[in-house]
Amino acid sequence: MLRSIVVSLVIGVGVQVPAYAQDAATVKNGKAVYERHCAYCHRRPAVEGELLVAPMALKLKYKGTLSPYIDERSDLGNLDVLRGFVRTGVAGMLPIRKTEVSEAELRAIAAYIATNAKATAR
Ligand code: HEC
Repeated sequence: MLRSIVVSLVIGVGVQVPAYAQDAATVKNGKAVYERHCAYCHRRPAVEGELLVAPMALKLKYKGTLSPYIDERSDLGNLDVLRGFVRTGVAGMLPIRKTEVSEAELRAIAAYIATNAKATAR
């Protein structure tokens, strides 16, 4: 009896994966997906004077009240908010379909944005 309790305790502890480990992997994957599918329009300019379409449009839209870089905005770390923009499209951005960026990938992007926005918050 005692032996089986000890064994199940040991097994129970052994298979427990810490929640943060999976989150860290999701965030890392989200960053990779963001860089592959979003960054070429949304990233910070790599050189001074480089003009990127999305930050320019978002600067005009929010007049500086929100960051023009989507990965710095905590509101877009919310999957539902992010999905609303991405799947519907918004003004100058066409909708992005699930065959291009899957739901799991979109969830990972939201996790990356939530983490990054917190880190870059002023
Ligand atoms: C081909 C260029 C392009 C790509 C690729 C692109 N976007 Fe955009 N995105 C834009 C532009 C331009 C806007 C601004 C639209 C406007 O308001 O005029 C925008 C707007 C957005 C907005 C709306 C923000 C707001 O508050 O209005 C979100 C969210 C967004 N993009 C997320 C993404 C994500 C996530 C990806 C990658 C999966 C992505 N975009 C890929 C060009 C792009």
